[in-house]
Amino acid sequence: MSILEQIKSELPWLDDKVSFDLTRGKPSADQLNVTQKNFKHIEIPFEMDGIDLRNYGNPEGIPSARKLGAQILSTEFDETIALDNSSLTIMQQLVSCAYHLGFPKSKLSKKTKFLCPVPGYDRHFKLLENFGVEMIAMPFQDDGPDVNVINDLIFKDDDISGIVCVPRHSNPTGHVYSDQNVKEIFELIANKKRNFMVFWDNAYACHDFRETINQTPVMKIADEYELKDNLFIVGSTSKITLAGSGLAFFASSEANISKFIEYRNSLTPGPNKLNQGMHVNYFKKSSLQSQMESLKEVILPKFKLVEKYLDELKKDGLCHYIQPSGGYFISFESSTSNAEQIIEHCSKLGLKLLPIGSCFPYQKDPKNSNIRIAPTFPNLENLERCMEIFSKVVKKLN
Ligand SMILES: Cc1ncc(COP(=O)(O)O)c(C=O)c1O
Repeated sequence: MSILEQIKSELPWLDDKVSFDLTRGKPSADQLNVTQKNFKHIEIPFEMDGIDLRNYGNPEGIPSARKLGAQILSTEFDETIALDNSSLTIMQQLVSCAYHLGFPKSKLSKKTKFLCPVPGYDRHFKLLENFGVEMIAMPFQDDGPDVNVINDLIFKDDDISGIVCVPRHSNPTGHVYSDQNVKEIFELIANKKRNFMVFWDNAYACHDFRETINQTPVMKIADEYELKDNLFIVGSTSKITLAGSGLAFFASSEANISKFIEYRNSLTPGPNKLNQGMHVNYFKKSSLQSQMESLKEVILPKFKLVEKYLDELKKDGLCHYIQPSGGYFISFESSTSNAEQIIEHCSKLGLKLLPIGSCFPYQKDPKNSNIRIAPTFPNLENLERCMEIFSKVVKKLN
């Protein structure tokens, strides 16, 4: 009997109609319902902070929304702007602005290379690839990107002028950068580079579901190393309120912000201020902390369920993974070079996973071992079925 036939015979509920998807870090309907319930009682505000929200203008966002962004990102109000619904879009625009116009200390060109700690976020890599930015994959140490490797690389190659960081509950590994790690990285950048762009994608800034180390606000550390003009912080409420209809924020030096606004003025006559006002009122009703607590109640049991299956595989020596303290993902490392086969077998049994190499620049997983698991979208019952399929496939292929 083939492996697929064996698994089908062992899981009586598994028929050809089964269709599960663990590819994307999407909030579940239950999470979105938490938010919808609160939004139901909020009327659309047409005026706030003395601003007519219905009209064009205020390219930096309304003050109350900027305050919200500063709270989420642990940044200063003056250095934070509130925009539309996606931080990834902001990042694309920042790369474009750095490429075409240049920021005072961050200019990109056809020769630019970026350091990319791996495994990382697939859309970051695709974005950089689209601009022809050469990506150099590099490893993590326990508390952030590997400082020794950064030292070796940026010392050797003058064209390296950027790094992409997801500093809290990194996608997909769950890394949380320590202050020490950040200081060491910034010191290297400050000593060796004038033209350098640090992307600080704090997508999971307040998404702890287990105890997580505190981090000093990164702007403060950047200030110590005179790197404020090199630091580009983004984040959003996508995984806090509504994934497709939240607010995204950008924080940086005032010089970078004014350059970016100048650039964006040719893209849009202003952000969606009605949605900004809605979000400000939302968080007057439900504090950020209580919102995150409610979401944790939905999310944490899903992580525990996945971890139950992965712990068993780990005990059998079949994989390695680190239990995340927050965020949206688990990074599965197969002990043998068979991730592609695992993905293929799961797919034939109705469980969709990201294609091999997705968490690496140019989709190249050098060890053929990494699979990103995104547990949030299915309900618990379906997630259990996903993990039954997954763990049976892993066991049979070893
Ligand atoms: C690290 C990271 N950045 C950005 C995003 C997308 O955020 P947004 O919805 O604000 O574009 C995600 C979504 O999964 C993510 O994991």
